[in-house]
Amino acid sequence: MAERDPTDSLTPDWAASRTLRAHEIRRKIVTHIAAKTTDMAEGPLPLHKSVYTGGARFAAEREHLFLRQPLVAGLTGDIPQPGDYLVFDAAGPSILVIRGKDGIVRAFRNMCTHRGAKLVEQSEPFTGKASRLTCPFHAWTFNNLGGLIGQPGKAGFAGCDIGARDLLPLPCTEHLGLIFVRASEGEAIDAAAHLGDFADELALLELHKAVPVKKGILHAQSNWKFSLDTYGEGYHFAALHASTIGQTHYNDIAVVDRFGLHHRINFPDNSLGNLVGLPEADWPETEYGGVHYLFPNTIIFFGSITPGVYFTQVFRLFPDGVGKTRCQFGVYAPFGVHSDDYRGICEMAYDATAEVVQAEDYRVASHGYANLLTAPEDFHVVLGANECAPQAVHRHIADAVGMPL
Ligand code: FES
Ligand SMILES: [Fe+2]
Repeated sequence: MAERDPTDSLTPDWAASRTLRAHEIRRKIVTHIAAKTTDMAEGPLPLHKSVYTGGARFAAEREHLFLRQPLVAGLTGDIPQPGDYLVFDAAGPSILVIRGKDGIVRAFRNMCTHRGAKLVEQSEPFTGKASRLTCPFHAWTFNNLGGLIGQPGKAGFAGCDIGARDLLPLPCTEHLGLIFVRASEGEAIDAAAHLGDFADELALLELHKAVPVKKGILHAQSNWKFSLDTYGEGYHFAALHASTIGQTHYNDIAVVDRFGLHHRINFPDNSLGNLVGLPEADWPETEYGGVHYLFPNTIIFFGSITPGVYFTQVFRLFPDGVGKTRCQFGVYAPFGVHSDDYRGICEMAYDATAEVVQAEDYRVASHGYANLLTAPEDFHVVLGANECAPQAVHRHIADAVGMPL
């Protein structure tokens, strides 16, 4: 038998913490189910159509959110070993995120310092492993710390010596199993400050243990925020998802817990209705789960489908122009892949979710966006008080880009 790790007793019991949090959330949910209520904002929020269609606002979001904010480039498990790297190219510049031989994750522009060629020509969600990267153009070679270690025809490059032409670094840090990158040069990322007290919520997910199972890209012909809004309310479950989540979950009941710019939403499944009127002492254990939103563009769904069988879904939404969304979607096994059956369940979770998101959520987002393009000049959409999470997201984005709603 393996010896017990002496630090075990110092490690929080995350499963117990999840059970505890599940109970707190459930208490709020059962109150809502009994009263047929949901968490609400103070009132409805009208949004002028240009919030989605406006070119100036979009340019400001590109600049202030996608180039300047710390963004989730991947999870620890995407590049677990020294030499593993991934391509992160959805925020704007093509970026390489590499775990060095020292175990530290760094980000560099995916750009050779000779004449700017792409070192790795594949696109996201490509991952690879290499102790050195050789440019396809003239074969300059870099190690996995970003250092230039090989220059064919060196005699032609007086003054461009090894050490003087290393890869161009970008701010990058790894925290709670998430890899954050800023897609422009600048100060280091303070992930703890960025997350604030949301860090304690995210810690429950133990994301550092998650192992990728399946990844891909989902597309919407819609502004990225229109697509993002679909993750923030359960008001559409019964109508839009009538044959899937609308069958299994309450419509328009949600508990939204906000943590600064971030939040966690819980949408109750039908079984929680059985707890109404039952003394809390008699409540059976329920599994922890939730939809975690990380400002500005990342959704992490953590949940179980059958008792004890968890999966983690990560959606990272990026604009591909003002009217296009590119969603990097991945399904992870939260605590590793322990069997082929379980891998199959995670793959099914990818396929089924991708199908619903693409065919239902992104379908209405694409149609709605097309309508906004031709809507009357003064048209406003309206987010109801029951759509309180998207309201908060729009307010925070508007603040960050310095353009009031
Ligand atoms: S551009 Fe990379 S070696 Fe020339
Ligand atoms: Fe949906």
